[in-house]
Amino acid sequence: MTSPTAAGHDLAGRHILLGITGSIAAYKAAMLCRLWKTAGAEVQVVMTPLAKQFITPLTMATLSKRPILVEFFDPENGAWNSHVSLGEWADCYVIAPATANTLAKMATGVADNLLLTTYLSARCPVVVAPAMDLDMYAHEATQQNLRTLAARGVRIVEPGEGELASGLSGKGRMAEPQQIAEYVGRLLGETDEKKKTLAGKRMIVTAGATIEAIDPVRFISNHSSGKMGYAIAGELAARGAEVTLVSGRTALPTPPGVERVDVLSAAEMYEATVKAFDRADGAVMCAAVADYTPESASETKLKKGDGELFIRLRRTQDIAAELGARKGGRLLVGFALETNDEKAHAQSKLRRKNFDFIVLNSLRDAGAGFRGDTNKVTLIDHAGSEELPLMSKREVAERIVDRIEGLLTR
Ligand code: C5P
Repeated sequence: MTSPTAAGHDLAGRHILLGITGSIAAYKAAMLCRLWKTAGAEVQVVMTPLAKQFITPLTMATLSKRPILVEFFDPENGAWNSHVSLGEWADCYVIAPATANTLAKMATGVADNLLLTTYLSARCPVVVAPAMDLDMYAHEATQQNLRTLAARGVRIVEPGEGELASGLSGKGRMAEPQQIAEYVGRLLGETDEKKKTLAGKRMIVTAGATIEAIDPVRFISNHSSGKMGYAIAGELAARGAEVTLVSGRTALPTPPGVERVDVLSAAEMYEATVKAFDRADGAVMCAAVADYTPESASETKLKKGDGELFIRLRRTQDIAAELGARKGGRLLVGFALETNDEKAHAQSKLRRKNFDFIVLNSLRDAGAGFRGDTNKVTLIDHAGSEELPLMSKREVAERIVDRIEGLLTR
C-alpha cells in the first residue's frame, strides 16, 4: 500500500480532524485514518450519532489511538467536549464521508451535533468528501448546498462514478481514501508558507470589465467582477512573481505584493498592457474587454428625444491577439467565456490568439462565470483538455498558477 508520504506529503506533527457521518462509505474512513497515521499525522475522529451505526467507535479509536468524540459531553462524567478547542487544534478538518444531510446542515448553519458545531467554529481549511446515491448527489438542493459551501471556501473532493450501495451505478461514490489523503497532503503543504517558486518572474494579469463611455454619464460594460483575475494575481505574487495587475473598475482590494494599474476603457487597457509586456515573462488575459466602443463619446450628456437612438460602435483592439502576435518566448494564458459550442470556440481562440493554454468557462455551468466566488473551468492547451470540478475561485487560481509555474520553470 502506498502512503501519502510516498506521494511527497510528510504529515509528521500535523493535526487532522476526521469527521464521519452516517453513510455506508464510513468504512473507507478507517483506511483514510490509517493512511494519515502512517504519514505521521495525529488524527482525532468526530462522528455523528448515526455514523456509529456504520462503523464502530472501537475501530476508529483503535486506528486513531484516541477516544472518539460524538456527544457534546461525556454522559458518564459530564466532561465537556469543546468544539471550539477542537477547531483550534486542527490543521485541517476533513468530513469523509459527508452525507447530503450533513452538507445541507453545513450550508445552512445547523448545529445539532458535535461534528457540525466543530465545523462552525473551525478556523482551519475544511474539506468534504460527499458520498450518496446518484440522484441525491445530482439533486439541485445538494448541488446548491455544495456551491454555497465552495463559495465559503470549503474544499470538495468530488465523488467518483461507479457502483453504489443502492445497487445503482453513477456519480456519488465517495472518492477513494488514497485520493482524499493526497488532496489533504497537498492542501496542508500549500497552507504552509508558499514556496517562492516564481521569484524573478514578471507577470501581467488583466482583470475586470472595461468601461466604454457613451457620454459623460453613460457607458457600455459587462458583468465581470474581476474576482478570478485578482485571485490569479494574488496567487502569482504569493509564489514570488512580480505582478502588474491591469485592472478595470472593481470594488476589490489589491492583493498583497501586487502592483495595480487602474484603467477604464479597452484602449487604456491596451496601452498599459502592451507597455508592460515588453519586460514581462508572461501574461494572463483575464479581463472582459469590450469588443466594441462608441465611435465617439459625446462631450455633453445626450438628451432624450421622441424617437429611437442609434449609437455607432467601432471595434476595439484585441489586446490578447496583439500580445500573441509579439509574444516570442513569453507565456500567454487566455480566458474564454462561452454560452454554446464551448470547446470548439475556446480551441479556435487558443490558436488564433497564440495562447499557451486557455481557461474555458461556460455560462451553462451552474456556479461558473461572473460575480460568484466559485468557478467550474476546463483548461485547454494544444495537447488536450482537463475539466476541473466546481471549486472556489481561489482554488481555480491555484490550479491555473500550477500550470503557469510548470511552463515557466521548465
Ligand atoms: O475573443 P474573446 O473576447 O472571447 O477572447 C477572450 C480572451 O481574449 C480573454 O483572454 C480576454 O481577456 C482577451 N481579450 C483581450 N482584448 C480584447 C478582447 C479579448 O485581451 N479586446
